[in-house]
Amino acid sequence: MSIRFIEKEQRFVLETVHTSYQIKIDRTGCLQHVYYGRKVGSTDMNYLYRTADRGFSGNPYEFQEDRGCSFDVMPQEYSTFGVGDYRIAALRCQGEDGSLSTDLRFDSFQITEGKYMLNGLPYVREGDEKGIQTLEIKLKDAVTDIAVTLLYGIFEDQDVITRSASICNQSGKTIRLMKAASVCLDFSFGVSDLISFAGRHCMERQPFRQKLGQNIVTVGSKRGMSSHHNNPFVILCAENTDEDNGDAWGVMLMYSGSHKEEIEKDQTGNVRLVAGIQDEGFCQILEAEDCFQTPEAILSFSPFGFNGLSAHFHRIIRENVCDPAFRKKRRPILLNSWEASYFDFDEKSIYHLAVQAKELGAEMLVLDDGWFGNRNDDHSGLGDWFVNEKKLKGGLTRLSEKIHELGLQFGLWVEPEMVNENSCLYQAHPDWALSDPGRRPNVARNQLVLDMSRQDVRDYLFACIDQLLRESRIEYLKWDFNRSLANVYSQKLSPERQGEVMHRFVLGVYSLLSRIRKAYPDVLIEGCAGGGGRFDAGMLFYSPQIWCSDNTDPIARLRIQEGTSYGYPACTMSSHVSASPNHQTGRSTPLSIRGIVASSGILGYELDPAKLSEKEKEEIRGQIASYKKYYHLIQEGTYYRLKEKNSGTEIVCWAFVSPQKDEALVNIAAAGIAANTPFPHIRLKGLREDAVYRIENTEVCATGAALMFGGYSFDILSGDYPCSQLHLVMI
Ligand code: DGJ
Repeated sequence: MSIRFIEKEQRFVLETVHTSYQIKIDRTGCLQHVYYGRKVGSTDMNYLYRTADRGFSGNPYEFQEDRGCSFDVMPQEYSTFGVGDYRIAALRCQGEDGSLSTDLRFDSFQITEGKYMLNGLPYVREGDEKGIQTLEIKLKDAVTDIAVTLLYGIFEDQDVITRSASICNQSGKTIRLMKAASVCLDFSFGVSDLISFAGRHCMERQPFRQKLGQNIVTVGSKRGMSSHHNNPFVILCAENTDEDNGDAWGVMLMYSGSHKEEIEKDQTGNVRLVAGIQDEGFCQILEAEDCFQTPEAILSFSPFGFNGLSAHFHRIIRENVCDPAFRKKRRPILLNSWEASYFDFDEKSIYHLAVQAKELGAEMLVLDDGWFGNRNDDHSGLGDWFVNEKKLKGGLTRLSEKIHELGLQFGLWVEPEMVNENSCLYQAHPDWALSDPGRRPNVARNQLVLDMSRQDVRDYLFACIDQLLRESRIEYLKWDFNRSLANVYSQKLSPERQGEVMHRFVLGVYSLLSRIRKAYPDVLIEGCAGGGGRFDAGMLFYSPQIWCSDNTDPIARLRIQEGTSYGYPACTMSSHVSASPNHQTGRSTPLSIRGIVASSGILGYELDPAKLSEKEKEEIRGQIASYKKYYHLIQEGTYYRLKEKNSGTEIVCWAFVSPQKDEALVNIAAAGIAANTPFPHIRLKGLREDAVYRIENTEVCATGAALMFGGYSFDILSGDYPCSQLHLVMI
């Protein structure tokens, strides 16, 4: 049993294979967070919480004589605003009488077999796992009649706990919900550092570690997208935690819109994390009997540092977030037209690209932006999802047929959520774009954002995509999204409901995606938002791979893909070999390192093969063959960031170890080199200690123990951005 209620102690014990999570109903009737961390058996961890009279921390009325009893110092399971906890609130709402206070006390609970599901939101799927359980704890405010049900899904085997909250208005009156976080987690001990994943367009998800002080750190996005700038994933850890040792807790929001993660260290050293939908600009009206469901948060803990934590997130995303239809399928190796020809193509040049893609060994041709409406640059056409026959004579159907005749699959770029003012769609339905009354809207890349909260907009988009997929053979859609939201006002909603638009937009996107997934279950959707601007577990529920970044420079990609790997598995990171010099950075790199870096994710190509030499073409054929040979390791292997610290150069090593631990692949790439260095040295990870492994193409045969504890040193790397690959096989 992974969930138990111990009546005598009024305590919930949630257990996974290696972790414990404890919640207690305290004497005030509040839900107290007692513990989350390494498995501790049945011990009541409540002994850790001692109370003292803390000045300026008031007491609930009925405990006024007991000045140690204060919501302000108590570790809470779901904190609220206004009743004496001055730290970050998870919930803030306002009743019809104007009161902003909420005081939640325990009401009831229920333990059920299987995993709860969320309506209209992505969630961690039950998958093939047995023994998953759900805990629902209902809390109520006796004065306002707000009921909050906290949901917990326990994935015992995966060491994962999911959380979501449902806020219901049982008051018979209208309530304004101004903040509704998915998770509140308090840590009285053991957390000293925060790692967030910050960045910008073309440099996403760079780990940023900071010490927590007695203040509040906020990360998040107000852009209507999870963003390039702050990913909805954070790690809390101990001072000494590194890649392989030490306590690490991860919290990942399964949400693709504006989000907020707040971390506060309080007067007593307690660290609180609250994560959920961004509350700035958010206001949901709850009429009588209405409920609001928060997005799901995925929680995991590992005492084995960041590699240990990443392994948990990789597994749950691979097995229980991504669509099972694509779990075991090798993804097509594609050639994308974007960096090959941008907007400048016709049916002949695209066909020619396909012929060359085939010769290189690719399996799909993807036609990127520019095939529709009056789209010859980024000033016009978005919204007009019908083929531009002037550019592509014979249309998509004919082109797709010809490409299939070559033995290739065909993929297509779309950006459904956007519209150009210069388009037929905008001329017909200007009110379909988000825009404030009386104000000219903020424009980005010459485009406006469609109001995805509207059913008529979604129906139009579904009809367009449905027609494309019905009329032409299309196996893949690249679903792009190229601007942040602004002027988030829907002409369809009443003035008092405008604070709902940002979230309704995201729900609308999910609803359209899920309608398309249902109608076309075999079509692979690749997520994209100007590269990795919406690289989150919410999108991964619908699109099992996401274009990791618009930056295809392999040296920049080393940092982007490594940063991404803290939370997300390699099989979700779409990565392409592009031309050199690189179009984003101007840097020249050898084809070999471009191949190694792109092969550490979902491999593709994005260049004009006509500009390659015969030698380069041959090298690409080799890359594709070796990628196919090792693909199972990229898809299913346990991934490790191996730190090379001996040589003093900038060498990045990523290892993929098969689930049976009988095979491993290590991809090695140098971002910088130096002269006369010590030999680069790595310690392998995740092998069987007593098994013997041969490193192919070397003389080395060694036990797993030798390779993990003694390590392996390889040749000094020299030249421009060198790289290499080790393949280990158990003998
Ligand atoms: C941004 C994407 O990330 C690129 O790969 C490309 O598809 C362009 N949009 C097309 O406009």
